[in-house]
Amino acid sequence: MSLNPPNSLTIRVSLGLRSYPIEVVSEPSLDRSEFIDFIKDSLERTWSGKGCRKALIVSDSNVIQTWAEPYAAALSEMGLETALAEVPAGESSKSLFALSSIYDRLMDLKADRHTLIVAVGGGVIGDLAGFAAASFNRGLPLIMIPTTLLAQVDSSVGGKTGINHPRGKNLIGAFHQPIGVWIDINTLQTLPEREFKSGLAEVVKYGVIQDPEFFEYLEANAEAALARNPTVLQHLVARSCRLKANVVELDELEHTGQRAILNYGHTVAHAIENVAGYGEYLHGEAVAIGMVAETKLAESLVWIDSRLTQRLIHLLTRLQLPTTIKSCNIELLMAAMKHDKKNKSGRVRFVIPRRLGKVTLTDEPTDEQIIAVLKSLSNPEN
Ligand SMILES: NC(=O)c1ccc[n+]([C@@H]2O[C@H](COP(=O)([O-])OP(=O)(O)OC[C@H]3O[C@@H](n4cnc5c(N)ncnc54)[C@H](O)[C@@H]3O)[C@@H](O)[C@H]2O)c1
Ligand SMILES: [Zn+2]
Repeated sequence: MSLNPPNSLTIRVSLGLRSYPIEVVSEPSLDRSEFIDFIKDSLERTWSGKGCRKALIVSDSNVIQTWAEPYAAALSEMGLETALAEVPAGESSKSLFALSSIYDRLMDLKADRHTLIVAVGGGVIGDLAGFAAASFNRGLPLIMIPTTLLAQVDSSVGGKTGINHPRGKNLIGAFHQPIGVWIDINTLQTLPEREFKSGLAEVVKYGVIQDPEFFEYLEANAEAALARNPTVLQHLVARSCRLKANVVELDELEHTGQRAILNYGHTVAHAIENVAGYGEYLHGEAVAIGMVAETKLAESLVWIDSRLTQRLIHLLTRLQLPTTIKSCNIELLMAAMKHDKKNKSGRVRFVIPRRLGKVTLTDEPTDEQIIAVLKSLSNPEN
């Protein structure tokens, strides 16, 4: 079947038998026939998809009516017996309780190994529904329909699924690749402003770690991106997916360390999120500050001069993302970083730029250098 509808960009994630397409469409309204073709094609390609007769759409209370119900109608139109499962919006739904409610819906539907799970929502829904798909009946076919910018450029690509344990985030999970990812850029139009900007931080990250031209594209189109220009957003999402897919293709199961470059900005970001308490900073806001911190560390190591840091700060500021920390308890931040489970033998590890488009994982920064950078980020006026 020929795909590639006119307003769509296709990214192929090459993982042998687990390969799948990501379709990024920018049509203002959902065109059912294109979507149905995409689903049929994705089902046809896989053993579990071939016998598919039923589907369960998982979504959250903010998204279900506007974005999930039209997809339910399209799946019914295809002849699939379709049910909808709704969980409350927010991180608290990455729980055993919510997971169990999805299993219940699958039991009600008399799901078999060919029942399709469709995740319509942000990263919370992708992780939760993805893990339900990974675990129920030892694995069901999964389609991701991400509706936040973060989910479109990050969490829907790469196959990581999971829920939280009360004592730790993402502790219960599995790798389970989707059979297809359908991204409708139009869903971003209803996303709250702060969530949207937060997602832009991960987009900037891809430019710094892998693609100087993409960074320049963002510099040239920052205001259009903020205004959610569909053409700019489509390129920005498609390129981000391609860049993440490149890394995932090299290191699908996070065994070789190559996937680590995706953690640029994240050592400091996780410490900020921990110390401030989850919710004070959105993830992308903490990543924006973390990227500035880790670029400053590159200056301390004399790997780069200050021009890259200045360019980064300028771009993030134009995207209305924070580049300094409000009230900064340096001792607590240091303690949080030292506890990071990704550390080796007590040294804190960072992903640090060598130049624009190239980063290295290193534990070279000394405590004194880290403290000096954190001090420079503290901005008590705000
Ligand atoms: N699996 C991975 O590789 C991976 C990578 C990064 C993050 N994550 C996970 O992703 C989660 C965060 O994802 P998120 O930022 O998308 O959060 P989220 O799913 O909570 O969505 C953020 C908010 O936006 C709302 N929303 C979603 N789409 C909307 C739309 N189109 N219009 C209006 N409102 C909308 C949601 O209801 C929610 O209130 C975290 O749990 C994180 O651990 C996973
Ligand atoms: Zn992140």
